[in-house]
Amino acid sequence: ASVTFSDDHSLVSAVLPTGESVSVLLHGATVLSWKDASGTEKLWLSTASALDGTKPVRGGIPLVFPFFGPPPPGLSLPQHGFARSARWEFLGKSTSESAGGVGVVDLSAKLDFGLSSAGLDAATREAWPFAFNLIYTVTLDRGSLTTSLVVSNDDEARPFDCQVLMHTYLRVADIAQTEITGLDGASYVDKVDGAATKTQSAAVTIAGETDRVYTPMASGAQVAVVEGGKKTFSVARDNLANVVVWNPWADKAKGMADFEPKDGYKNMLCVEPGAVSGWQTLEPGDAFEGAQTITYYS
Ligand code: BG6
Repeated sequence: ASVTFSDDHSLVSAVLPTGESVSVLLHGATVLSWKDASGTEKLWLSTASALDGTKPVRGGIPLVFPFFGPPPPGLSLPQHGFARSARWEFLGKSTSESAGGVGVVDLSAKLDFGLSSAGLDAATREAWPFAFNLIYTVTLDRGSLTTSLVVSNDDEARPFDCQVLMHTYLRVADIAQTEITGLDGASYVDKVDGAATKTQSAAVTIAGETDRVYTPMASGAQVAVVEGGKKTFSVARDNLANVVVWNPWADKAKGMADFEPKDGYKNMLCVEPGAVSGWQTLEPGDAFEGAQTITYYS
């Protein structure tokens, strides 16, 4: 048995022989779907999301670059930057073997995508005039999904500052029964309370609009999603110091034209690894790499 790949110049997919699958839209290199062996979807995707490139995808895993949130003063670019709106190039696919159970060899699939300054439209290139190169790798293993971004400064002379974030929309059965562990003791900026800095105590529960930028302690426990008392996801970060936790709740969801169904906020939780509380300064020739691995437990 081998991995089945497909590419229709808009969507690239991989299916493992054991049934797990992932699909990535070239628009934004947005992971749209990630399913386990039984075909159960692990990500939330709005049914009203634009998938034709006219708007960023509302759901899946949009990529945030070169800044998080509204544009810094003087930059005329959309919220969360241009990476999630640009059309990426599919660079290639590969398969590798890893040891599964006793005597079992599991296959994993890797998809590589690229975006560079040359791939931007003229207006965006003018607004952010740096020579950069992004390589985004999506790796599907039997029980996990890894997304990894390498940002390089290809400019000959100028440094640039950037932020990166993986805006993962996890699918949950019932937000009222869901909590996030591993953030106990972490400091966070509460964006729904005037950007006040607070300290998390105990698990994070979501009972209203939630928009927080956490800086987990380096020595802290792994961030995990617990549903009805049972761990359903863990989110490991590599070189990404922050975790944004976002749920728009009922009123904000109502105000978002591309958020459907309107009560979908009960079935999603954004847990977003990123490097967003400061800036990465990349000198010419420098690179920054950050990654997340999401593991599910069923
Ligand atoms: C989160 C931000 O990461 O993304 C929120 O912290 C924001 O402030 C949310 O509302 C969704 O952003 P957008 O641009 O996709 O509507």
